[in-house]
Amino acid sequence: MNKAQQKFRRVVWQYYRQRGRSLPWRETTDAYAILVSEVMLQQTQVDRVIPKHEAWLDRFGDWDSLSRASLADVLTAWQGLGYNRRAQNLQRCAQAVIDQHRGVLPKDEQSLRALPGIGPYTAAAVQAFAHNKPVTMIETNIRTVFLHHFLTGKTEVSDDQLLPLITATVSAREPRKWYWALMDYGAHLKQEHGNTNTRSKHYVKQSAFVGSNRQVRGRIIALLTTKQAVTRVELLEELQVGEKRAEAALAQLQTEGLVATVRGRIRIA
Ligand code: ADE
Repeated sequence: MNKAQQKFRRVVWQYYRQRGRSLPWRETTDAYAILVSEVMLQQTQVDRVIPKHEAWLDRFGDWDSLSRASLADVLTAWQGLGYNRRAQNLQRCAQAVIDQHRGVLPKDEQSLRALPGIGPYTAAAVQAFAHNKPVTMIETNIRTVFLHHFLTGKTEVSDDQLLPLITATVSAREPRKWYWALMDYGAHLKQEHGNTNTRSKHYVKQSAFVGSNRQVRGRIIALLTTKQAVTRVELLEELQVGEKRAEAALAQLQTEGLVATVRGRIRIA
């Protein structure tokens, strides 16, 4: 580690000592609770995740409970978090943990990556936060920190440029805490300077939700978690987005196995 990197580490640790957040999923080393939090946090702000995470754990306390639940109950508990496929994947992950791993989430990268819904970031987050392993990982807040400190003013920055810096500076002794610190500091920098991740090659602006296909899909799932089963005519009447858009969203949800038609009525699969 060079001088600049050492100085950087002191800045991050100092920020964390003064302003580090205490969050429910940081009070546990349970891989299940941690994985649930990471999947929720992929699309939703921390403040909104806190109550959802707590309610989820009350309703589905472990892999076994989640694996045996109905998809309708799973999607009901997920309401308000968006991207319902993530909840479906989380349940499929629970089923794989029960069926293939004797009810224990594997620790190694390869087995983690083979599970539904677990990509490179999530696999690394489980290793860092549940097992305190000094992995190299990147997500939006971490990206912000490294762009800010090491690539000031640069544009079109690739993660390949950032990853060696992340590896070089990760704490060998306290990787779990180090990544908490990076995320808190990154969230703080965004508040101070706005989102500068437009300088990243990998920055993808979240597309408009209102009027989108994603919104129609979300509305169909929300409706089916309250009404249980509806006819096609009732659904079209409720949505008011035109037959073509409604049908397209519905077909997609059916293909994904989120929605099914049973005796002419549409319901959660
Ligand atoms: N603490 C642990 N994981 C986190 C995340 N993804 N975002 C914010 N804080 C976290």
